[in-house]
Amino acid sequence: MKVLLVNGSPHEKGCTYTGLQEVANALENNDIETEFLWLGIEPLAGCIGCNACLKTGKCFRNDIVNDFLNKVPDIDGFVFGSPVHFASSSGALTSFMDRAFYGRRKLFENKPACCICSCRRGGASATFDQINKYFSMSNMPIVTSQYWNQVHGTNPDEVKRDLEGMQTMRTLGNNMAWLLKCIDIAKKSGLEYPKNEGVVKTNFID
Ligand SMILES: Cc1cc2nc3c(=O)[nH]c(=O)nc-3n(C[C@H](O)[C@H](O)[C@H](O)COP(=O)(O)O)c2cc1C
Repeated sequence: MKVLLVNGSPHEKGCTYTGLQEVANALENNDIETEFLWLGIEPLAGCIGCNACLKTGKCFRNDIVNDFLNKVPDIDGFVFGSPVHFASSSGALTSFMDRAFYGRRKLFENKPACCICSCRRGGASATFDQINKYFSMSNMPIVTSQYWNQVHGTNPDEVKRDLEGMQTMRTLGNNMAWLLKCIDIAKKSGLEYPKNEGVVKTNFID
């Protein structure tokens, strides 16, 4: 089983990475394979709402979003990490998530996911809520920890000294590993995924 950890920070090995790495270590200690995907520092375009992806399954902009979408079928669980930028996720991660999740419930459903946030001082819980919303409308089980998934610091050393934050990361990794194993056992024993009616879209009009 494999978990993909997406780093939405402009710093490849910064605070967000430090938190993600602690989650990854816990997963590896539970025999779950991990892979990192860093979004980088080049501009990452947002969704333009052209709906081309609804027909093709891919974004018309052939960039890291499509690279990610190609990986999804082989991934069992996801961890998305972001620094807190003005009490929200980074612009790059927001653009990435908007384009990756738009119209793709079928691709992601039943795959466990969670997010972690890194901030100096405040805005982590707002960011946590923001990122969790992608999962909670995609039929994805959200993995939780002993606290909201946040670490604090302005550099990796400070993050490592946030002992409660780092413990929260390890607990998150352990919980994700446990849920993945439960799902694996359920699948092997013949338990089917929940039946899905298909979404009734009303726009509140009728
Ligand atoms: C544009 C920008 C906005 C930020 N906004 C916040 C904020 O709202 N709250 C906060 O506590 N820290 C804020 N920070 C600090 C970072 O969230 C924090 O240092 C984080 O741990 C950096 O993670 P990184 O090393 O992965 O980039 C901001 C940093 C930047 C660059």
